[in-house]
Amino acid sequence: MLGRMPDRSLNVTTIELAPMYALCPETIDDWWEVEALYDLCFAPGREALSSYRLRDDVPAVSGLSMVARDSDGILAGAIRFWPVRVGDVPSLLLGPVAVHPTRQGEGLGGQLIEASLNVPEAAAWDRVMLVGDAPYYKRFGFERLEGVVMPPPTNPARVLGRALRSGAWDGVVGAVRRFAH
Ligand SMILES: CC(C)(COP(=O)(O)OP(=O)(O)OC[C@H]1O[C@@H](n2cnc3c(N)ncnc32)[C@H](O)[C@@H]1OP(=O)(O)O)[C@@H](O)C(=O)NCCC(=O)NCCS
Repeated sequence: MLGRMPDRSLNVTTIELAPMYALCPETIDDWWEVEALYDLCFAPGREALSSYRLRDDVPAVSGLSMVARDSDGILAGAIRFWPVRVGDVPSLLLGPVAVHPTRQGEGLGGQLIEASLNVPEAAAWDRVMLVGDAPYYKRFGFERLEGVVMPPPTNPARVLGRALRSGAWDGVVGAVRRFAH
């Protein structure tokens, strides 16, 4: 089973995005609509990816997973975050992030990434990682993480990280594991 939903009772602040999207924390009512957007934007079988095993039965991080809607309330993009451990060190796992094909290239993907990492809830985290295309994510400060090993099969060149506090990835190596309290 996929990770459970963020708490619908979150006391949230809507972030207005220029020029036409509003970004809000995802609630349980958004879940299936976001799933449909991901199904549209990713190749079939996305849930077979090894990164999904890190999300099984683990709640997404409350307050960080976001939806972007236009002025008519139509879902244009979404981003989710899960907690993971690298060795014993906690990290955010960014993703999936997707923008509807008719809305791509407007900067919304970048806004989702930057805005979500700047909400107050993000201050509880020192580092963020993801599995993705370095040519896209390097513009947001993500760099290859040497020695951080995702469950196979994962191309090590796609394992990227960004420090949310200076030096937060220094010396952090090891296998990426499900977050267990
Ligand atoms: C990746 C994605 C979220 C970007 O959203 P977006 O709103 O179109 O992105 P932005 O408008 O912020 O940025 C667009 C720029 O990123 C580039 N870009 C998009 N995807 C890229 C990729 N995979 N590799 C390199 N560059 C990429 C575009 O060419 C464009 O470049 P430009 O600014 O030089 O014109 C969106 O394309 C998407 O949903 N893709 C399908 C799902 C996916 O692949 N998600 C990411 C998983 S790694």
